Amino acid sequence: MRIVEIIEKKRDGHALSSQEIKFWIEGLTNHTVEDYQSSALLMAITLNGMNMEETTALTEAMIASGDTIDLSLIHGLKVDKHSTGGVGDKTSLVISPIVAACGGKVAKMSGRGLGHTGGTLDKLESIPGFDINLENDAFVNQVNDINVAIIGQTGNLVYADKVLYALRDVTGTVQSIPLIAASIMSKKIAGGADAIVLDVKYGEGAFMKTLDDARELARVMISIGKNLGRDVTALLTNMNQPLGFCIGNALEVKEAVETLCGHGPKDLEELCLVACGHMLVHGKQVDSYEAGYQKAKASIEDGSAYKKFLEWIARQGGDTSVFEDLGAFTHAAYTQQVYADSHGFVSDLKALELGMASLHLGAGRTKKDEDIDFKAGIILNKKVGDSVSEGELLGTLYSNEPIESRHIEEFKLAFSYTDNALETPQLIADIVS
Ligand code: URA
Repeated sequence: MRIVEIIEKKRDGHALSSQEIKFWIEGLTNHTVEDYQSSALLMAITLNGMNMEETTALTEAMIASGDTIDLSLIHGLKVDKHSTGGVGDKTSLVISPIVAACGGKVAKMSGRGLGHTGGTLDKLESIPGFDINLENDAFVNQVNDINVAIIGQTGNLVYADKVLYALRDVTGTVQSIPLIAASIMSKKIAGGADAIVLDVKYGEGAFMKTLDDARELARVMISIGKNLGRDVTALLTNMNQPLGFCIGNALEVKEAVETLCGHGPKDLEELCLVACGHMLVHGKQVDSYEAGYQKAKASIEDGSAYKKFLEWIARQGGDTSVFEDLGAFTHAAYTQQVYADSHGFVSDLKALELGMASLHLGAGRTKKDEDIDFKAGIILNKKVGDSVSEGELLGTLYSNEPIESRHIEEFKLAFSYTDNALETPQLIADIVS
């Protein structure tokens, strides 16, 4: 087999065989296929697509390119949740302890933020002492003991994804549904998940700009799951505006704590309860989604979800005393309140722009492994549909570096207004499985 023939075949719009896909991924892994050849093939796939057989074969070949995690020593079904990335998305911090408090097993590997989207590991590391590097035995024991652990992805999990993602990032080939689907599903399956609940975001702040594209991505990931023996449910959710009111690491932890204590933002709470309802069905803790939703809700109301959160954070070395004073926990050297200079109803609150504004305040990174300011970020006072009078507070910016007028302008530019009242946008557009 020759890689150039495989590239030409896909360039001419033909389907590749499983053997050809395996040959490519093995070659990329053992360096007999050059990066420029993989780049050409990635572009051919982006332009000509892949059918379900090809996409499943790609996922399998990617899983085989690195380590796989054996979670068989964990008793019970391991149900993972994955979000395709957004702004203000702190759902893992809320969902994981709720599911654990309801008897489900959450053995989760998470990533760091890059660009305008945040990452669960950064949020957890804003808690002093929290350790994201557990050895495999400690990880397994922790899930068996308290039902929940979240750690960083081990170095060699799905090696091919690291190479492919870096190439896609610089060759205009990120936006390909089969490539995104194989990338996400290979990591979830190699990470040991028995079932997966996906939160597929669409809108201005997400990879998928339209609901139709999000639906197609969900369909492909569900089919991969079916072909590889994993149950998958996908929520299609709106990311035209941030989730909740807080963006930035410590600020998002604060909002997660408030949600677990029953006084978080309604959009965040609802999305978390719906995801938990499905995770509890997949984990066989309940017989129906409705029972799962109610069980999750009850765990917030009776305090068991927050108790589980504290147990989990403490078990991974985190200092839980910081949650006794959330104001001190989120204190930054500089804060800036920003007031409206127009009036009307908020018609648009651009998640992408707010993610970038938060990044420029220090909350995110533009390059891998850059240091970040855990206290930097934004608290919104207004969301889409809210009325605003001139001079009213739109939000507060947080940073440990002086806040400049460019930060304020960037924040204000995320808001658009209309004279007419509008309905609050629907957060969950559909659920497919
Ligand atoms: N998230 C991933 O893990 N991979 C992609 O390709 C896109 C989003």
